[in-house]
Amino acid sequence: MSAGSLFPSLDLSGTAVAPALFLAPMAGITHSGFRRLIADFGGYGALTTEMLSAPAFLREDPARSPFCRRRECEGNLVYQLRLSGEEDLGALFGKLETLSPAAVDLNLGCPAPEIQRLASGAALFRDFARLGRVLAGIRTHYGGPLTVKCRLGDDPDRWREPFVERLRLFEDHAVAAVTVHPRFSGEKLKRRARWREFPWIASRTRLPVIGNGDIRSPRDLEEHAEFFRPLAGIMLGRVVVEKPWIFREFAGLPPARVDYAEVWERLVRYTLEDLPPERALGRLKEFASYYCHNFFFGHELYRRCLGGRTVEQVHASALEFLRSDPQLSA
Ligand SMILES: Cc1cc2nc3c(=O)[nH]c(=O)nc-3n(C[C@H](O)[C@H](O)[C@H](O)COP(=O)(O)O)c2cc1C
Repeated sequence: MSAGSLFPSLDLSGTAVAPALFLAPMAGITHSGFRRLIADFGGYGALTTEMLSAPAFLREDPARSPFCRRRECEGNLVYQLRLSGEEDLGALFGKLETLSPAAVDLNLGCPAPEIQRLASGAALFRDFARLGRVLAGIRTHYGGPLTVKCRLGDDPDRWREPFVERLRLFEDHAVAAVTVHPRFSGEKLKRRARWREFPWIASRTRLPVIGNGDIRSPRDLEEHAEFFRPLAGIMLGRVVVEKPWIFREFAGLPPARVDYAEVWERLVRYTLEDLPPERALGRLKEFASYYCHNFFFGHELYRRCLGGRTVEQVHASALEFLRSDPQLSA
């Protein structure tokens, strides 16, 4: 059974996402060049931008910004925002609407201290009153598909009641779907995502729930069908960076023929089309830190990339490794 048949489609307030397979927003990774690469392989229903800050978004030309630039081939694109409530929501959503987003997603899960210091991400999820004001403010200016992405909360012993209160708030503000990454805010990406909580969460809301966290293969869905069946869709993050073609497997499409060196070259080319070399450098290294997991001696690929001072150096040393017919990891 493929994820495509388990989650054939999801209606996000009028936007059809089929299959209901989403690319997770990942800062430093899901820029326009990376999304273009994922689009080449297909199999997903919607892609997501990196988390966008309102001031930067309002300053940028969306047709040229490596965060917002959207190519026809991408299909559905969800724009993720981090908000605190201090932003000019009228200007922000006015500009966003001109991009015809598949949905706008509100980041309520990011636990990074620098984001929480800006009263965004997990800090906004925690502050119930402010969260309500932000959602109401969004709805004053924007009637389109709105999704939210959150974790379970802060306290492993007493998270259920506050979580359900927030689900009510999402329902009251006509949120189209809730993506849940079932970890607590103090956990970063440690421990395992608590898939076993998905059925309970889905039973507490009439909103579609999209599950995220540590899903690596269609087998995960089959072997833990009792956890995934109540969901409306799933979202994949790091495994897509490691294997940009993986959505095809989840969607039940014929497998892509993968040439690891060619995929790397293509990503470098796409990234440099949209980003100047000095900004592309960090993003390529970040990609390599996941891509290297495909290889038995992947740490060697990562070490070479990490040491590169320029895009040319990183590109050349990665290519040398990838063209040496490296042994794949199991
Ligand atoms: C490098 C990196 C950047 C991330 N940036 C964001 C972000 O901007 N917004 C967000 O909601 N989550 C972000 N996340 C969390 C992912 O969206 C996702 O919830 C998490 O990686 C768990 O899913 P996975 O196990 O499929 O990777 C990020 C994760 C990683 C690894």
